[in-house]
Amino acid sequence: MTKKRIIRLFITVLIGVALAGAIAAYQIKDETAAAHKNSVVAKNFGGDFTLKNHLGETVTQANFDNQYRLIYFGFTYCPAICPTELQRISSVLKELGDKGNTIQPIFITVDPERDNVATMKDYVGLFHPRLIGLTGTTEQTDIVKKAYKIYAAKVQEEGMNDYTMDHSSFIYFMGPDNSLIRIFKTDDTIEQMIDVIKSYL
Ligand code: NI
Repeated sequence: MTKKRIIRLFITVLIGVALAGAIAAYQIKDETAAAHKNSVVAKNFGGDFTLKNHLGETVTQANFDNQYRLIYFGFTYCPAICPTELQRISSVLKELGDKGNTIQPIFITVDPERDNVATMKDYVGLFHPRLIGLTGTTEQTDIVKKAYKIYAAKVQEEGMNDYTMDHSSFIYFMGPDNSLIRIFKTDDTIEQMIDVIKSYL
């Protein structure tokens, strides 16, 4: 191949890649728009639970009836993912401004052994003034984990005294009627989240 042909081939490939990217971006946008309004992932998701909030008060699912919710399961000792996701919830609420006030952010621990009421109180305050931290006995958190289809397991790493937790990382957007509207994953951008949430408020 001559140098010119190589350059031409290179440019053709570049255009192809750019085009594929544009189509993919368009499809994602289209999918987001289509998923808006009146569509839910599951009706009557979750289920009842009895837990303690970070102020030590007993809380059940009924406490959140008629409220939009953003729920995240994790643990306070999590080095990276949990703080990132809670920060994202906080950013979404901030960006939504007054509309964001109609959404209740909730953090439920998958590590009740270490995350007692006092630990949860210190932790939730780092992210959002309205973030509610929920903990309980192992039996109580097992019930809520099962209801929300959350996987969590202790991991003891070699040479470490402390254990860590392997766990699912989803942000559940729930409606006032306990329907599961949307599951946000770690690769959903804040803009995509806002876009979806806004269309419901
Ligand atoms: Ni985590």
